[in-house]
Amino acid sequence: MLSSIMAAARGVYAGRLATTSPLLNVGCGNRFHAAWTNADLMPASPEVLPIDLRRRLPFADSTFAAAYSSHVLEHLTPLEARGFLREMQRVLRPGGVVRIVVPDLEGIVRGYLRALDEAACGADTEARWRHRWMTVELLDQMVRTQSGGAMGRWWSCTPVPCLDLIQERLGAEATMAIASQQARTDRTFLDPVDILLAPAVSDREAMAFAARGERHKWMYDRVSLADVLRESGFTEPRPMTAVESRIPAFTTYELDADASGNILKPDSLFMEAVRPSA
Ligand SMILES: C[S@@+](CC[C@H](N)C(=O)[O-])C[C@H]1O[C@@H](n2cnc3c(N)ncnc32)[C@H](O)[C@@H]1O
Repeated sequence: MLSSIMAAARGVYAGRLATTSPLLNVGCGNRFHAAWTNADLMPASPEVLPIDLRRRLPFADSTFAAAYSSHVLEHLTPLEARGFLREMQRVLRPGGVVRIVVPDLEGIVRGYLRALDEAACGADTEARWRHRWMTVELLDQMVRTQSGGAMGRWWSCTPVPCLDLIQERLGAEATMAIASQQARTDRTFLDPVDILLAPAVSDREAMAFAARGERHKWMYDRVSLADVLRESGFTEPRPMTAVESRIPAFTTYELDADASGNILKPDSLFMEAVRPSA
């Protein structure tokens, strides 16, 4: 792995990375397909190119027919996001499609308001847990000071409060993360009422954590994501479903939904836009 990272880094030093596919997946994490050029700050595999999308992308102008980035934009400041999308535009061919997937701020807020109304109606304990979960979904990734945050603590409680709602909202990936959390033998018992009580960390630890990129620095809905795409030079921003795309054969790569059509991150807003031809 080290040798392939160094070889790729030499390519960066030379000014550009060799690409083998006209499809680009940036910030791929461990969700990537071999038919794509995959890139991430922390490559999960030797097939993934090391890249920092806050800098100029190491690809020539008009290299790609399509570019995709899932659950990455919200980890950038609005300024960094604008720079990144402009770079995506530059490396796309005229007429090329960008597909951006982010947690859907509108969906979270609507879910929160629904849960709030139900919890405010009476003494239903389940409804109060659902309300508390939606508050965590809305805020935790913006304020946490330790990896996993309140979500991680929530997922290590036994039983997991309002597990059905979490699985419905966050889908298969969260279900797997919860199962692996529950299987940990080093898990300490946590009373669910203490989930929000994050252990204190020093200012230094908090700053080091903030620099690691796990936190969300902004969030988007179908209006603001379309705006930032337009402001970055794209046209025709359009919300999509997980299984709908202007990228040919997109569903066959199983990036947003598996072969059975199960949506991998159902809390998402999927949006595509086009690099203008002239
Ligand atoms: C929440 S994960 C999403 C991973 C994958 N795209 C998915 O949808 O499951 C965010 C990914 O963005 C990557 N990332 C964060 N900041 C980055 C940066 N500055 N440059 C490149 N990748 C970055 C992280 O390493 C991580 O793999």
